[in-house]
Amino acid sequence: PFPDLAYFREKRPVFFHKGLGQWFVFRYEDVAALFSDPRLSADRMKGFVDAAPASVRDDLRLVAPYLEMFALMNDEPDHSRLRKFLRLGFNPQKIRALRGDIQRIADELLDRVEERGRRVDVSEDYGFLLPAYVLSDFMGFPEEDRGRVLQWSLDFIGFFNVVPITAETTRSMVESAREMIFYTRELLEERRREPRDDFLGLLANVKTDEVSEDEIVANAMLLLLAGHVAPRNLIGNTVYLLLTHPEQFELLRDEPGLLRGALEESLRYEPPVTLIPRIALEDFEFGGERIRAGQIVQLSIASANRDERRFTDPDRFDITKKPGGALSFGHGPHGCLGALLAMQEAEISLQTLLRRMPDIRLDEEREIVWYRNAANRGPESLPLVF
Ligand code: HEM
Repeated sequence: PFPDLAYFREKRPVFFHKGLGQWFVFRYEDVAALFSDPRLSADRMKGFVDAAPASVRDDLRLVAPYLEMFALMNDEPDHSRLRKFLRLGFNPQKIRALRGDIQRIADELLDRVEERGRRVDVSEDYGFLLPAYVLSDFMGFPEEDRGRVLQWSLDFIGFFNVVPITAETTRSMVESAREMIFYTRELLEERRREPRDDFLGLLANVKTDEVSEDEIVANAMLLLLAGHVAPRNLIGNTVYLLLTHPEQFELLRDEPGLLRGALEESLRYEPPVTLIPRIALEDFEFGGERIRAGQIVQLSIASANRDERRFTDPDRFDITKKPGGALSFGHGPHGCLGALLAMQEAEISLQTLLRRMPDIRLDEEREIVWYRNAANRGPESLPLVF
């Protein structure tokens, strides 16, 4: 609903959208401050239950208690407790050790594409599958279950990231959540019998007086939701931005070391996660407005990253810029745990794509389809020829 974010940053930086009944915050400084403001709660599950059709709310209530255990949905003190155990799996050494695995998956996917001809849908054939397979290996799901894992992930994305919530998306998500709960429990049991050095192996041995078995299972589920669609969109957005800014693409070809900068600029310019909701816990004044307890406050990362008060020439995509401070991975206590993994996936997948298919260009005969959703931005389909 906001075609002109610059207008809102200037004139209505803290804005109540009457139709949606929600607040939107547009300036960098305000968004960054509210990410760490204890007057706002991250517990947004009730919003999803209320938005689901009445006919499926009872189904949803069956799994809602699990979803409420996501670190993402918790405030203090539970948030720190849950995040502390999740962090164990994201230690940088463990994430770096995945590089070889990511490279192998990238090559396998491009082998499949090459076998089929000279066309590739970078989003569907590559960006969609790569993070899902990496995540599946990282967790320790057996390779033969990749199809199931993809389906679960799709069902979570369909429920949490697509508006409006329908009876069908709710039913599919509930079914997948229940399946995944049983499946993860079984694998945790298996790891206790036969320890292995993967994320599930690590979770299986977390002290149960610190976190419950249900909390462990729930947060394994969170990773499928958090770790799939955004990396896919980072890959798609970056390829799209490079192809539509040929002079930048040339720069990168001449100097492959610019890839890291290209990814950071892509994240700033076109963040995969554009809006983050919070719920006001009390009435308070902010930016000259009165926010009331229970109201939804949407933090616009997309707008903050283009704020001229914070970034020079923010509407220009420039891979040499090195823009520190973009809010694309969030900020404050809930800041993204998977940022290093996501950057590594994007770096390896783009390097591999550009090395193996250096002449990629947009496929003029097929249409680009953008993900239709206010909180996630990226191409669902990005057809290229090579
Ligand atoms: C949280 C963005 C990739 C796991 C977040 C948040 C953002 C974000 C904006 C903050 C949510 C909030 O404040 O409510 C992204 C982007 C990614 C990405 C843009 C890719 C380009 C990943 C990956 C994983 C992951 C690959 C894991 C495999 C998480 C988790 C949280 C989180 C667990 C919750 C942290 C907490 O609540 O303490 N992410 N993410 N993310 N992300 Fe990511």
